Amino acid sequence: MASKALTFYARFAPSFTRIGYLARGLPLRSGGRSLAGQSWLVTGATGGIGRALALGAARRGARVIAVGRNAEKLKALADEGSRQKEGGPFETIERDLSLVGDNLSLAEEVGRLDALINNVGNLPPEHRLTSEGFEQSYATSLLGQFALTEALLDQGKLDGAAVVNMASGGMYNAPLDTSLLDLPPDRYNGFLAYAANKRAQLALADHWAARVDAYTMHPGWVATQGVSDALPWMDRWIGPLLRSPAQGADTALWLASKRPKHAEGRIWFDRAARKAHHYDLTRNPRSSVEDVVAKLRADVAKVENQS
Ligand SMILES: NC(=O)c1ccc[n+]([C@@H]2O[C@H](COP(=O)([O-])OP(=O)(O)OC[C@H]3O[C@@H](n4cnc5c(N)ncnc54)[C@H](OP(=O)(O)O)[C@@H]3O)[C@@H](O)[C@H]2O)c1
Repeated sequence: MASKALTFYARFAPSFTRIGYLARGLPLRSGGRSLAGQSWLVTGATGGIGRALALGAARRGARVIAVGRNAEKLKALADEGSRQKEGGPFETIERDLSLVGDNLSLAEEVGRLDALINNVGNLPPEHRLTSEGFEQSYATSLLGQFALTEALLDQGKLDGAAVVNMASGGMYNAPLDTSLLDLPPDRYNGFLAYAANKRAQLALADHWAARVDAYTMHPGWVATQGVSDALPWMDRWIGPLLRSPAQGADTALWLASKRPKHAEGRIWFDRAARKAHHYDLTRNPRSSVEDVVAKLRADVAKVENQS
């Protein structure tokens, strides 16, 4: 297990760290056109990549709705967003995005959007359940954003919009497999759950592509609180090589403003559609896109039927 992890991190370090960002010339690429007049919603916006994304979109003129669960952090973010010179209007909404109910009420509360960035995600080391009874990382990184996006689509609030799912290079370690989603305590492994959720996000972009400009991307390895908590060795060993949150946010901002053609079965990284498989173990999916959507629909329905 340790040697497999070591091989994975050694293989991708040149590309996923700051080195790849610099080698691909991204600092020299244009920030892109003004987003004035657009409405963007960013989930998990009180820290890390989501925070950089929300502030970056506002700096380019978008009206930003930043969603998080911590009132104090939201207040600090709103103050910073509103202080930006020539920035667009900056709003915050408090929700626990691991809850289907909170995601559905969020969809009701907001109006039409030009961009939805499904950024929130986590890697809990131990199995935990949400108050709705789902495993925490599945609920946060997949089920909640499925509920939010489907509700917005059904309400016509994403007509003509872009949806960007923030996945991870960790998905290279898991096939598409519904039996790895919402793992029970006796089968729980945080890295496996994380990889499986992120793999499923890729399937969702393919599912939504008929209705919106849909993309799944990964940000590389970025210096954030999430990484310090889940992978503390990264800070210790390659801290200076980690990307900044703004560098991690770059491709999401580019995708939702540039709107390249959807690339089925591919994952976006550093402004290009890249292959979704590096290992044989993931090439033959054990579930289909339709299976994943059916599971997520059934889990959303469980919550709706309870209330
Ligand atoms: N950093 C990386 O190297 C990396 C690599 C690959 C993929 N990603 C992906 O990129 C995304 C962002 O990662 P990050 O490293 O920026 O994460 P992070 O530092 O942990 O920040 C996540 C943000 O989401 C918020 N959040 C977490 N759970 C929430 C919930 N249930 N409801 C509302 N807000 C919630 C957190 O707020 P609190 O402060 O309240 O917890 C925090 O503001 C994730 O999907 C992650 O998997 C990151």
